[in-house]
Amino acid sequence: MESGLENVVAAETVLSDVDGQAGRLIIRGASLDDLAGERFETVAAMLLDGFFEQPVEPGALGKAIGAARVEIFAQFAGLDPQLLTLPPTDVVRALIARLPDGDDLAAAVQLLAAPAVFVPAVIRAKRGEAPIAPRAEAAHAADVLHMLGAAEGEAAVGGLDTYLVSVIDHGLNASTFAARVVASTKAGLTSSVLAGLSALKGPLHGGAPGPVLDMLDGIGVPANAEGWIEDALDRGERLMGFGHRVYRVRDPRADALKRAVGRLAASGSANRSRIGLAEAVEQAALAILKRRKPDRPLDTNVEFYTAVLLEALGFPREAFTAVFAMGRVAGWIAHAREQAGTGRLIRPQSRYVGPRPLEAA
Ligand code: ACO
Repeated sequence: MESGLENVVAAETVLSDVDGQAGRLIIRGASLDDLAGERFETVAAMLLDGFFEQPVEPGALGKAIGAARVEIFAQFAGLDPQLLTLPPTDVVRALIARLPDGDDLAAAVQLLAAPAVFVPAVIRAKRGEAPIAPRAEAAHAADVLHMLGAAEGEAAVGGLDTYLVSVIDHGLNASTFAARVVASTKAGLTSSVLAGLSALKGPLHGGAPGPVLDMLDGIGVPANAEGWIEDALDRGERLMGFGHRVYRVRDPRADALKRAVGRLAASGSANRSRIGLAEAVEQAALAILKRRKPDRPLDTNVEFYTAVLLEALGFPREAFTAVFAMGRVAGWIAHAREQAGTGRLIRPQSRYVGPRPLEAA
């Protein structure tokens, strides 16, 4: 048995397919390349349609999420200041935990809206700034940037949509598996989403992009990239933003995000020298990893350009994992409903390898 359950098929899904050899991601029959220009609400509706009593249509879902943002924002007024001593992802998790468990579309809509409202409000509260109220009629990504107090230009809104869509679902990754296990007990959608978020925050999963920026800061200028990377690997460290359990080639999400970063730079809303540094670091890292690990293809993963993009959009690095949850929450909900629909509890076996009581003589 592989200790990380690699190659074990634990669910059948119509939601997404990750082809790690070809570097291709399919979401409900469409390739990520075709979806990367769509709004979050549109792709969330694609994921959720068929898993509730009523059909899920993008326009209606967008409106419902807008109304839910306003409702959820009202709850934020009651935030316990003690919570703000925790890292942003943990504050967001605590706030989501206050939502009631449910299994219907209304519960799903609340959960889609919750991280989008809580993340900007928590970021602002940690800076000592008052929260900014959402606008029910606005598009989801535009409203998130508005609530953050960040620039809302076309390239910025498009960049956030590209990000949210790029991470919306990705096969049976660790957080989605966690969400499905909880859903299989029929605990409800809030519980499944909390399980997903808890799994997501680790640095081997969704916690990597903050450390990617720490790496860029540590390197400082392109000329330092090679030496810095060699030293880090000599110390036995892993390079954040590289390698993947499934992809053996470049993560297709990395390209979608790199293109969004390029559009931000062209619109003047991203720092060109920061992007130049990121490109130089990526190039150096790929060459060094190839030389050091010739038998283990290690390529750029989603987190590398996530870091550059989210920084350019105005999110602080401590909050990157919570922004990831803003997109992935749609995938967790869809998987939770798909799993619950099978009616089957997920309950694997372990092999006992500890001591046994002495047999009676
Ligand atoms: N930097 C340096 N070496 C690496 C890296 C890396 N980023 N990733 C893997 N390796 C090396 C390992 O040290 C190992 O070498 P060894 O055999 O000499 O010990 C070899 O490649 C194989 O590694 P595994 O641990 O078997 O690979 P696994 O499939 O478990 O790793 C993972 C996947 C956890 C993502 C890994 O590549 C990693 O730690 N990357 C850095 C963290 C990161 O970017 N995480 C975000 C992933 S994307 C996402 O979850 C949204």
